[in-house]
Amino acid sequence: MGCPGLGNAFAGLILVLLSKGSSVRGAEFGLLPDNITVLEGDSVTLRCRIDEEVTHKAWLNRSNILFTGTDKWSLDKRVTLLNSNNSDFSIHIEKVQITDEGPYTCTFQANNKPRIAHVYLIVQVPARIVNISKNVSVNEGENVNLYCLAVGRPEPTVTWKDQKYGLVSEGEFLDITEIKRQQAEDYECITHNGVAPPDQRKVKVTVNYPPMMADIKNTPAHLGKTAVLRCEAMAVPSASFEWYRDDHRPVENDNTLRIKNEKTRSLLLFTNVTEKHFGNYTCFASNRLGSSNASMLLFRPGALQGRGTSLDAGMSVSVCVWVSLSAVVLLKV
Ligand SMILES: *[C@@H]1O[C@H](CO)[C@@H](O)[C@H](O)[C@H]1NC(C)=O
Ligand SMILES: *[C@@H]1O[C@H](CO)[C@@H](O)[C@H](O)[C@H]1NC(C)=O
Ligand SMILES: *[C@@H]1O[C@H](CO)[C@@H](O)[C@H](O)[C@H]1NC(C)=O
Ligand SMILES: *[C@@H]1O[C@H](CO)[C@@H](O)[C@H](O)[C@H]1NC(C)=O
Ligand SMILES: *[C@@H]1O[C@H](CO)[C@@H](O)[C@H](O)[C@H]1NC(C)=O
Ligand SMILES: *[C@@H]1O[C@H](CO)[C@@H](O)[C@H](O)[C@H]1NC(C)=O
Ligand SMILES: *[C@@H]1O[C@H](CO)[C@@H](O)[C@H](O)[C@H]1NC(C)=O
Ligand SMILES: *[C@@H]1O[C@H](CO)[C@@H](O)[C@H](O)[C@H]1NC(C)=O
Repeated sequence: MGCPGLGNAFAGLILVLLSKGSSVRGAEFGLLPDNITVLEGDSVTLRCRIDEEVTHKAWLNRSNILFTGTDKWSLDKRVTLLNSNNSDFSIHIEKVQITDEGPYTCTFQANNKPRIAHVYLIVQVPARIVNISKNVSVNEGENVNLYCLAVGRPEPTVTWKDQKYGLVSEGEFLDITEIKRQQAEDYECITHNGVAPPDQRKVKVTVNYPPMMADIKNTPAHLGKTAVLRCEAMAVPSASFEWYRDDHRPVENDNTLRIKNEKTRSLLLFTNVTEKHFGNYTCFASNRLGSSNASMLLFRPGALQGRGTSLDAGMSVSVCVWVSLSAVVLLKV
């Protein structure tokens, strides 16, 4: 405004921020407008210190008059005059809204000279996730597109992290092309703008794949003792298991043989091995994406060229370790 003596007038103005339930902060008016930061929903006091010479005084929001002296011009109930005496002219704004952000002006006349001081009210909103992908279940090889929409003032950053590798992507969208089973995880979206602790939420990504068998072993067994045949199959969703004997008969529970199914494996538990138990067992694992099978022998140690426990010694057996079940299925039909 080019007023002479402006600098002196500023020195007499003090502005105080009163956050809801928190301590009072003061800021001296300088030549540049001061910034006062307040959280959306909190209250704030804009304080203007004057002296006895003052004859006219007013508060403005942008170019709108809020108060002239003790006369209220604003229709907004949230705005009140806190103090008006010879040394203090302060207004109070309750439940601050984002639209309150902007320049406020305390202006007054003393000794017939206009004085003016500005304050810039900044309204902040903690970063918050407002919409995020639901947990998803896809088949291996498909594409996955996750989103995490956040709001906040100032504009928050959004990042995606996974448990294994940490940061996987920046921004609201996370795209995974041709997802692999190892990428099945909880993906965490984190949004932050420095106003409050980050907001974070997780999305669980399930990757389905057909059963894969591992560690198929032929197993020696002694008459009258116990024995176990194991069939491991990783699968999502978990596989269901079936067992067949060499002649393609389904294996059933009886008083010497029990089938124990677990999440990733099935066990054949022989409680008292007898002659009839020796033979070729085929494990068949399936889920809705496919199936897999493997065959293994329960053998008498003596039958393997007398060396007992090591399968490698028995040529006829090792040849047959990884054979398939195709014939079984054909005959089953
Ligand atoms: C007020 O904030 C603006 C931007 O937000 C910044 O450029 C300016 O320097 C700040 N003023 C003071 C006095 O802090
Ligand atoms: C004016 O009001 C302020 C705030 O309540 C107070 O600190 C000050 O003493 C008052 N001054 C006079 C002259 O009443
Ligand atoms: C300040 O002015 C803006 C628009 O000019 C208005 O939306 C807002 O409610 C006003 N705030 C106060 C506290 O007067
Ligand atoms: C969340 O975002 C998605 C994608 O942008 C949109 O389709 C959906 O309608 C949104 N949901 C809500 C509740 O806003
Ligand atoms: C998503 O998965 C997580 C576990 O990763 C679980 O805590 C949460 O309840 C699931 N959400 C929904 C909507 O099913
Ligand atoms: C195992 O079976 C044999 C033959 O049926 C029987 O003689 C033996 O007592 C059984 N052993 C055990 C521990 O049940
Ligand atoms: C075991 O059974 C499977 C399926 O019938 C067959 O393919 C495989 O050759 C058999 N293995 C041995 C050692 O007999
Ligand atoms: C058993 O697995 C073999 C490959 O290891 C496959 O060729 C055959 O079709 C499978 N049989 C069944 C019934 O899935």
